[in-house]
Amino acid sequence: MAVADWDDARGHMLLDPTVVNLNTGSGGPLPRCAFERVTGYRAHLAREPMDFLLREVPALLWEARERLAGFVGGDPHRLVLTANVTGAVNLVASSLDLTAPGEILMTDHEYTPMRWCLERMAQRRGLEVRTFPLPALPADAGEVVDAAVAAMTHRTRLLFFSHVVSSTGLVLPARELCAEARRRGIVTLVDGAHAPAFLDLDLDGTGCDYYAGSGHKWLLAPTGVGFLHVAPGRAEGLEPLQVSWAHEPPRGSGPPDERDRFGSTPRLRRYECEGTRDICPWLATPESIDFQAGLGYDRIRARRRELVEHARERLTGWRGLTPATPESPALSGAMVAFRLPGGSRAGDLHQALWERFRIETAVADRPDGALLRISLNFYNTEAEIDQLAKAMGETKELIGG
Ligand SMILES: Cc1ncc(COP(=O)(O)O)c(C=O)c1O
Repeated sequence: MAVADWDDARGHMLLDPTVVNLNTGSGGPLPRCAFERVTGYRAHLAREPMDFLLREVPALLWEARERLAGFVGGDPHRLVLTANVTGAVNLVASSLDLTAPGEILMTDHEYTPMRWCLERMAQRRGLEVRTFPLPALPADAGEVVDAAVAAMTHRTRLLFFSHVVSSTGLVLPARELCAEARRRGIVTLVDGAHAPAFLDLDLDGTGCDYYAGSGHKWLLAPTGVGFLHVAPGRAEGLEPLQVSWAHEPPRGSGPPDERDRFGSTPRLRRYECEGTRDICPWLATPESIDFQAGLGYDRIRARRRELVEHARERLTGWRGLTPATPESPALSGAMVAFRLPGGSRAGDLHQALWERFRIETAVADRPDGALLRISLNFYNTEAEIDQLAKAMGETKELIGG
């Protein structure tokens, strides 16, 4: 696709023209069509709530579930829609029965609130949490698998890891990790917050027990779209976070996993029904899937790779910046992170990039040093990366080395 076409694609996005948005990893902007779709549903909800909820929602909800499940390589009968990944991980952590004593194993790069959630789970169930270090810049997936396998013991009950690591964009070999866990009787819970539309997902082929994903990042769906995909038989024993109308199946309900008249199944509805609330973002998800499909997911991924390459060329070595994301396409995608030299002031740099240059990107302080993470999607340009490089040059006093 020629650059002019990407310019055209950018024109379909609700981007603030005064901002350089290099942070899809935290939250993706919406294509105009998805915004209009969700707003249209909300207009119906506002005008005639009961007509919308009782008569329009059921068919739309099943369609959204089916489309999202198809997109991530899963099964609509095992796809619980949630508000976000936080809700999906909490749903599992609040009721999954694990045998104590034992431990929950996770990498040392898990997203902090998710780590807290599993720490609380461990505390309540008499388990321990143990972390293992991810290799800094793995040359191949085998290095990551070896590190995980070396950390698994007969006490490991649950393996928790991010499919795409938030801090660096490193892609973990989910299929291999889940296979190693399964071989040892370890349950797997995968945090796929960044994964939908970042990776070409095949959840049933990945072989994890529980997979949490979100729509508001790379899928460019409205805020409020998350999901938990559950392997066959793994929903048994999971309890909803909130008890509401679907707690007891209505009279005349069919089997727990059969499609019902609400756009769910009795089992899924128990998890999803959280009183009266706005589920329009779920219903608009197919619009976001179709929008990027129109541009071509493979072409989008190829374009992101070009942009990542440009960012690497511009920033590697500048004032001692070193890439913290492997180059291998199997281990990386649309995000590239750079380690900032010791003495860098991450918080101040983040603030200065925004306040002085209107550049939105992620700068994080981690125990092993500060990281600058750049997210690159089809609506970004080489010129924006150059603007970031120039801005970094003008904030040298905040960068150590
Ligand atoms: C790896 C990872 N897990 C979980 C989350 C939490 O996502 P949410 O706030 O949508 O629940 C994020 C958010 O950025 C994340 O990057």
